Amino acid sequence: NLLNVEKEPVRVLVTGAAGQIGYAIVPMIARGVMLGPDQPVILHLLDIEPAAEALNGVKMELIDAAFPLLKGVIATTDPIEACMGVNIAVMVGGFPRKEGMERKDVMSKNVSIYKAQASALEKHAAEDCKVLVIANPANTNALILKEFAPSIPEKNITCLTRLDHNRALGQISESLDVQVSDVKNVIIWGNHSSTQYPDVNHATVQTSSGEKPVRELVSDDKWLNAEFITTVQQRGAAVIKARKLSSALSAASAACDHMRDWVLGTPEGTWVSMGVYSDGSYGIQPGLIYSFPVTCEKGKWSIVQGLKIDEFSRAKMDATAKELVEEKSLAYSCLN
Ligand code: NAD
Ligand code: LMR
Repeated sequence: NLLNVEKEPVRVLVTGAAGQIGYAIVPMIARGVMLGPDQPVILHLLDIEPAAEALNGVKMELIDAAFPLLKGVIATTDPIEACMGVNIAVMVGGFPRKEGMERKDVMSKNVSIYKAQASALEKHAAEDCKVLVIANPANTNALILKEFAPSIPEKNITCLTRLDHNRALGQISESLDVQVSDVKNVIIWGNHSSTQYPDVNHATVQTSSGEKPVRELVSDDKWLNAEFITTVQQRGAAVIKARKLSSALSAASAACDHMRDWVLGTPEGTWVSMGVYSDGSYGIQPGLIYSFPVTCEKGKWSIVQGLKIDEFSRAKMDATAKELVEEKSLAYSCLN
């Protein structure tokens, strides 16, 4: 029976796998949350020497969980072994910020990791490997990875802003007291930082009388134009303040959403936010990894075109682009 033929396993690399996000994401991947309930996976887990014992503990637990889709686990501190033949690379390895820091404060430590791992991926990953960078500063780490792995197609290198996108959906849902699954088409523009612009101008809510614009349902423009934006921009910091650790389960879940939609496609009429290599759309200069609204089909993303941008949005989109330009030069100064 053809329907019972098992798919070939997909090799998924998780770097920083002994860390917080690593611990949250590996069971999700092994349960099919990222690539689908019929997709077997082989996990490649990378961390550094001081975390080797903890990494081995994660491997033990993955074996103990007896996940039916999990066809193998490679746990290693060798980037070459980790990258060998991987189809998906989830780059979490790096250092998280602590209370009082901006994400770019971890720049000097983290960009050098992305420069080094770019070559391991370029040389050893599968040709069509899809890369998702999570470690902060996520956009700039992704850009450095792209620049030091020139043979990986630029369309295959992305960074995570889906967490911000999901946070925006969550805030709208809480404020209107509607199901989060009925809210769609928010946009995160720009950097995964406090300059990001969460935009609700095209967002809608499914109601009993059809789809309604969020702007029509939320009567308080002041909330949408001020507090909503700063809440989403500052949510990472608020979680750090509360947990004394940065967000992990929501980041892991958003990373699964990002890869699932990229590989399996976005639902009809829905877009999501992804940090991707700018092609000049919406006047954002090419050569930045910038978060745009995208739809995905057959394993490829495309930027949603033709959305009307008002003056308020324009200024915010440009401000976050400007920060990315500054981060790029700071990153290069850290590498020199
Ligand atoms: P963590 O400190 O718990 O785990 C990070 C792991 O990376 C550690 O186990 C560490 O040993 C490992 N590591 C360090 N250098 C490495 C290297 N060269 N190669 C492989 N592994 C290496 O941190 P965390 O909470 O899991 O967060 C990881 C990163 O993700 C941080 O930079 C954090 O700021 C970022 N983050 C991003 C988002 C986002 O939405 N983009 C959300 C949450 C966290
Ligand atoms: C987040 O958005 O939660 C992460 O980027 C962690 C952080 O430093 O805010």
